Amino acid sequence: MFARLVALVLGASVASVPALAAQTAQPAAEFTIHADQGRDTISRHIYGQFAEHLGRLIYDGVWTRQSPTAPWQMRQDVVDALKRLEVPNIRWPGGCFADTYHWRDGVGPREQRPSIVNTNWGGVTEDNGVGTNEYMALIKAIGAEPYIVGNIGSGTVQEMHDWWEYVNHPGSSPMADLRRRNGQDAPFDVRFWGMGNEAWGCGGNMRPEYYADELKRYGTYLPAYGATRPFRIAVGPNDADYHWMDVLMREAGRFIQGVDLHHYTLAGPWAAKGPATGFSEAQWFRSMKSALAIDEMITRHSAIMDKYDPRQRVALIVGEWGTWHDPEPGSHPGFLYQQNTMRDALVASTSLDIFNKHADRVRGANIAQMVNVLQAMILTQGTQMILTPTYHVFEFYTVHHDALLLPITMTRAGAYTFDRDSLPAISATASRDRGGVMHLTMSNIDPRAARTVIVDIAGAAVTSAAGRILAGSSMDAYNSFEHPDVVTPEPFTGAHVANGRLTVMLPPHAVVVLALR
Ligand code: AHR
Repeated sequence: MFARLVALVLGASVASVPALAAQTAQPAAEFTIHADQGRDTISRHIYGQFAEHLGRLIYDGVWTRQSPTAPWQMRQDVVDALKRLEVPNIRWPGGCFADTYHWRDGVGPREQRPSIVNTNWGGVTEDNGVGTNEYMALIKAIGAEPYIVGNIGSGTVQEMHDWWEYVNHPGSSPMADLRRRNGQDAPFDVRFWGMGNEAWGCGGNMRPEYYADELKRYGTYLPAYGATRPFRIAVGPNDADYHWMDVLMREAGRFIQGVDLHHYTLAGPWAAKGPATGFSEAQWFRSMKSALAIDEMITRHSAIMDKYDPRQRVALIVGEWGTWHDPEPGSHPGFLYQQNTMRDALVASTSLDIFNKHADRVRGANIAQMVNVLQAMILTQGTQMILTPTYHVFEFYTVHHDALLLPITMTRAGAYTFDRDSLPAISATASRDRGGVMHLTMSNIDPRAARTVIVDIAGAAVTSAAGRILAGSSMDAYNSFEHPDVVTPEPFTGAHVANGRLTVMLPPHAVVVLALR
């Protein structure tokens, strides 16, 4: 504890005390919040989750059973933790799995559901115990909105239409009647509908021209049922594939409501991504650089969308994002199970800041993935559950859900320099909630040096700032099943307001949330 205190006072983490000698005092970072210039709402759907039939997410993570023949039941501990995040939507059933999934296999009496092989993720046998009705029960339990990804890669137009009819037809129809026989009278009212997944890869290896035609054909047969109109989310580009975006928007922009961009944060090449814990500062830096790269991607994709959709009718949805590290040693490599440290927390906070900043066009995002897979909120082991540092960031950011984005002018973000390369050290989002309270989230991605941040607040009289901090004791601090509370939010005492100006002392690798009054 003493070492941690000394390190924090000196502006270094315990893990990096030896590096301290090389550090010099950092100049203060500075930015202005324009409290009277809010225009765009930060859609709560930016805080969406992604739950694929992959590894131990669905089975074990969210649903569990007493014996191999017993029915799957939702885990109340996981449901309660997700409720605290105010999860707005859950993208399901994939991912690559979606383009192999045939929804009829997952409805009706469980003992009559066929098994299938999950060819993308470990070749395991999937018994279809969790299907549409079970997913909808989860959605209801959490209070989220459904977001279903249909199968274009290996399905048919009729099959997708029938699924749409099953979940949405309010009257009497073949599929609505089937739904009733399966115990659900009222329609589920599912509007978010993914038109396949990664059609440029696991979803069919298509050219954008071909996909755009397929998308229009499938999309034609999703009629409005009752009050539910389809919000068709097209497969968007992988990272900086601007050609895909251009062709898609040119050919099919007027037929869709959303485009699904995917970007994963990697600390190295795919073949050597590096470990989730015990990584070097070089890997930390590369993760931050990879995460921040989405800012330029969003700017350039948005510019292409503006060309075909100047009124910004079509939403850019970052339907898969987050860190992808090497799987934990000893785990099934096809299950993508990884630990989650302060590095993941900072990737989450800075990515969310970027999505918020682009709130005019980015109106949805889904972190990959919700439980036990990639950058998870929650990890489970048997009946145990732990909350990851990423979970705590999502909990901090609930203050921004559907809040008014307050523009920030960054005068000096400070440079986090590593090996002759540098990144902006400070990242932030400011918003005003419906009750009129201003909230500020702020991160310092420098794992070695504390930062003083001076914040001018234009257009509002602020006299106090109070909130919480997530910092951990080192850049790779994490929660384990043996030590579940190593990284948890703590009250923050490093923010002071004088003469309407806010001064914040941000420790290394830290995220804070403040209410400004
Ligand atoms: O999230 C894991 C996988 O990454 C998804 O199934 C796929 O869409 C992406 O390539």
